[in-house]
Amino acid sequence: MAYSEKVVDHYENPRNVGSFDQNDPNVGSGMVGAPACGDVMRLQIKVNDNGIIEDAKFKTYGCGSAIASSSLVTEWIKGKSLDEAEAIKNTDIAKELALPPVKIHCSILAEDAIKAAIDDYKTKKGQR
Ligand code: FES
Ligand code: FES
Repeated sequence: MAYSEKVVDHYENPRNVGSFDQNDPNVGSGMVGAPACGDVMRLQIKVNDNGIIEDAKFKTYGCGSAIASSSLVTEWIKGKSLDEAEAIKNTDIAKELALPPVKIHCSILAEDAIKAAIDDYKTKKGQR
């Protein structure tokens, strides 16, 4: 299967790989797994006092599309509010990366990881 140029670019030069201190009260972490293949993605957000995601990091143990999807969304969510980040759909990711149908679940993983990270952040802050 041929990967699109954008997938290869993010796979070879992933943006924002790494992690934040989970004990930082301004950090939210989302860890999700894909039942279809066993791949795992962790996405973390760092939120400033105005509710804006000022930084994001990820670690993905998975296929090229999963790595590209998480790399892409860390770029997308930086500078966004939690509501804006939560509105990102896997279809946006799949379209941007030109993912084939068998790789759609990789983009769903990224959408779910954003939501899980936001959820973790809000739980920490007592907003949920
Ligand atoms: Fe092989 Fe996900 S199925 S890496
Ligand atoms: Fe399972 Fe990509 S996340 S193949």
